[in-house]
Amino acid sequence: MTTVLVLNGPNLGRLGSREPDVYGSADLDQLRATLVQAAPAGVTVDVRQTDDEAELIHWLYEAVDERIPVILNPAAFTHYSYALRDAAALVTKAGLTLVEVHLSNPHARETFRHTSVVSAVATGVIAGFGFNSYRLALDFITRSLVDSTDSTDSTDSTDSTDSTGTAR
Ligand code: DQA
Repeated sequence: MTTVLVLNGPNLGRLGSREPDVYGSADLDQLRATLVQAAPAGVTVDVRQTDDEAELIHWLYEAVDERIPVILNPAAFTHYSYALRDAAALVTKAGLTLVEVHLSNPHARETFRHTSVVSAVATGVIAGFGFNSYRLALDFITRSLVDSTDSTDSTDSTDSTDSTGTAR
């Protein structure tokens, strides 16, 4: 059984009632249900939310220590938390996937949202697709897990592919 951590930052606990014109009318429990349903057999999604920067950072340490891939919506921390960025870098420097996601498209919003201090240390960024931002990230991670299992299983190194699916 593989686990994917889905970590959500401040104010995302108010999904459903918070600016529904921007973030939609579904709440965090519905996000959890969506991802649990979308997860393939053998993959557990652990969806968490906190308003506390330290707690979010400690969850990233947990990802490193337990070797768990991460989907991270840093919410407003995206734009200014160097501490969170440094913790996210620990995840990717450990060779683990960390996908930064956003429900909205921050680049189409206020100028302060155009900067992400996390993106440069993330594996990739998906933004603007509502809950589908998370589903796309989960899809990428589960494909990567299958690809890495395939290449581990392969006895013929000339027949393997890298993490992008490109033959090498
Ligand atoms: C957000 C975008 C951030 O700018 C904002 O502070 C959030 C949510 C999103 O998912 O669109 O809280 O991360």
